[in-house]
Amino acid sequence: MHATIVLLPGDGIGPEIVAQGKRVLEVIAKRTGHSFEMPEHAIGGNAIDSCGDPLPEETLNACRKSNAVLLGAVGGPKWDDPTAKTRPEAGLLRIRKELGLFANLRPTKTWDELLDASPLKREIVAGTDILFVRELTGGIYFGESGRRPHPSGEEAWNVMIYSTGEIERVVRVAADAARKRRGKLTMVDKANVLEASRLWRQVAERVVRTEYPDLQYNVVLVDSMAMHLISKPREFDVVVTENLFGDILTDEASMLPGSLGLLPSASIGASGPGLFEPIHGSAPDIAGKNIANPLATILAAAMMLRYSMSMNAEADAIEEAVSRVLKAGHRTKDIAGTGTSISTTEMGDFVVGML
Ligand code: IPM
Ligand code: MN
Repeated sequence: MHATIVLLPGDGIGPEIVAQGKRVLEVIAKRTGHSFEMPEHAIGGNAIDSCGDPLPEETLNACRKSNAVLLGAVGGPKWDDPTAKTRPEAGLLRIRKELGLFANLRPTKTWDELLDASPLKREIVAGTDILFVRELTGGIYFGESGRRPHPSGEEAWNVMIYSTGEIERVVRVAADAARKRRGKLTMVDKANVLEASRLWRQVAERVVRTEYPDLQYNVVLVDSMAMHLISKPREFDVVVTENLFGDILTDEASMLPGSLGLLPSASIGASGPGLFEPIHGSAPDIAGKNIANPLATILAAAMMLRYSMSMNAEADAIEEAVSRVLKAGHRTKDIAGTGTSISTTEMGDFVVGML
């Protein structure tokens, strides 16, 4: 097959890790006879610098016409001024919205060979295998916001808003995934306080009871979920939740396997190209040092082959290569503990070598 994969390296460590993802895709193409065209486009802070817009029209058009998008990360201190007209993150939010990527899949499983990289006890985290399905184009991220004068200075607000349809479609993505896994679905909300959560609870319950009666379904309040995630992570299979809760819980959950640098994510919509990226940020503190962990991006490339191109065997091959590299003891700094560590490019070399 011929596919166009748009690369959006972005800011900070983005270019370094996307370069490794690209190498892995090139090897897959060569080995299997597929042809991947991989044009690069600007997004985030560097796009603000070059054209004043964190998501230039040209980037968006290229993504729309592609089969899939592989993104590094956006943001950095250079663009952090709270009074700035636009921010790198706005580019990421807009591309999610414009491409209709309402479901963000964040698989979080521990690797046996890395159990000691987790700050949590081995006997608690071993065997964890959770798929988070985070709603990605609604809620407080996209609700009305503003500021107005206030006797004490100013006041500011953000509105968390969800419609029945927005909840139904992401719950269905999660429920379909649960059917293919261990048949358990957990919905996380704050229905004891928030009206938006009460709608989530009603709609999710109806969808599951009527369309997925075979699933084992439960609801958990987000504060208590924060606790359960680190006390009994093995109990969860698929977890579905709204945008902001999903953002926070998936960063927390990344500590189960030990590093944000290991976790890929897939953002998908009803149709059209998906967007694949590591869940971590641009890590400006280590940018340009060739020490970032490229594995999350490499695993995001595997998810891309699986979800956007139905190339399951190729995706398996990448995941298997990563697992063997870890088994062989190769570690970037984030997962090396007190042991020796290798560079970003060396990690890429090892994965390519295993392929
Ligand atoms: C993520 C990131 C983004 C988010 C930021 C960079 C806008 O934290 O993908 O989780 O909050 O969604
Ligand atoms: Mn986040």
